[in-house]
Amino acid sequence: MSVGIDEISFYTSNYYLDLRTLAEVQQTDPDKYYEGIGQEKMGMAAPDEDIVTMAANAALPLIERVGSDAVSTLMFATETGIDQSKAAGVYVHRLLGMSNNCRVVEMKQACYSATAAIQMACALVARTPEKKVLVIASDVARYDLDTPGEATQGCGAVAMLISANPRLLEIDPEVGNHTEDVMDFWRPNYRSTALVDGKYSTKIYLRALKKAWENFREVSSLAFDDFSHFCYHLPFSRMAQKAHQHLAKLNKADMTAEQIEAQIADTLSYNRIIGNSYTASMYIGLTSLLENCKQNIAGTKIGFFSYGSGCVAEFFSGTVVAGYEKYLHCTEHQTMLDNREEVSYEKYLELYRHPDPRDGSDLTIEKVTKGHFRLAGFSQHKREYVAS
Ligand code: CAA
Repeated sequence: MSVGIDEISFYTSNYYLDLRTLAEVQQTDPDKYYEGIGQEKMGMAAPDEDIVTMAANAALPLIERVGSDAVSTLMFATETGIDQSKAAGVYVHRLLGMSNNCRVVEMKQACYSATAAIQMACALVARTPEKKVLVIASDVARYDLDTPGEATQGCGAVAMLISANPRLLEIDPEVGNHTEDVMDFWRPNYRSTALVDGKYSTKIYLRALKKAWENFREVSSLAFDDFSHFCYHLPFSRMAQKAHQHLAKLNKADMTAEQIEAQIADTLSYNRIIGNSYTASMYIGLTSLLENCKQNIAGTKIGFFSYGSGCVAEFFSGTVVAGYEKYLHCTEHQTMLDNREEVSYEKYLELYRHPDPRDGSDLTIEKVTKGHFRLAGFSQHKREYVAS
């Protein structure tokens, strides 16, 4: 029996800032962003959007298809949680009308935790193959204004059904891990924006890639040449390009620069216009590959490098299932991306500074998002979510 991803759907915010606008205000060459870090737009959550609404909007088409009783467990991966105690997935569980017999848990290890959730979901499905596990990764990436990280903000959620005999991707059991206590990127509980040692974080990312790959090679018979495509964690597109060149070099791949680029190019399309979505980013990258690759890639192997600062990294592999193209949500994704609204720099600042009440006072939030679920307001320290 194979286990893996049966269906995948993502969601991002109503608004985006074009990085040309940011470059103009900063009096920076826009090519620093468009070319240098490989990013064009960054998603900005509307006041009535957050990790819960994006997650519920991403998962809705999946639950509508399989029904609310098919899922035994909902795992919610995030590093921008809204509560120190209650799992954000419990709100999603209610919004989607899921069974009271479904367990819900929230997972954290920077941008890596969605991968941990998927591996644990595969183990749960292997034990009870008639049940499915819903894994959702959802994050809002925020850095301080006027810092090098500012242009790499973004937001998004991805929902994946993990099942036996999946229709999209069979996940192999062999994994290579690398864990190391480093301070490259972190967010203390009292801060709403991340702290990052930017250049150092990119070095650690590459080091963790090498180590996780070496560990993978010890446990798997697969070599670099066995893969048709690679999906990387995507803090910004250029990071994945550098990482893949690094991996190709480590493996002395006999390939042109264009051939190396072709192995990841289609994974980057959505990230370039959404920005960093932390835990969700690699899986939005997988969606981008499946939906934008011109060739049919059924039967080919995909390599995955998942990286979470701090740091935990994992290299694993999967095989694309024959007929996968019939089960994608390309049209819905394109419509959602096309319906986003561009904002001015002033509006971006307004969204960035939009406060959540911290004193328990009531706040009613007007409807902006075009998504089905939204944050309607706050009352007595409680967030109130509704279906539109
Ligand atoms: N035209 C074309 N390219 C240009 C350019 C121009 N006019 N101006 C600059 N560039 C190029 C630079 O040469 C550089 O390219 P190389 O990396 O190939 O040398 C690139 O644009 C970026 O320029 P800088 O190095 O000057 O950029 P910076 O120092 O201002 O910021 C950064 C880069 C440190 C990565 C910053 O974006 C940052 O701090 N980002 C957040 C941290 C991050 O994402 N780290 C990634 C690893 S950690 C992780 O993956 C977890 C996570 O999700 C955060």
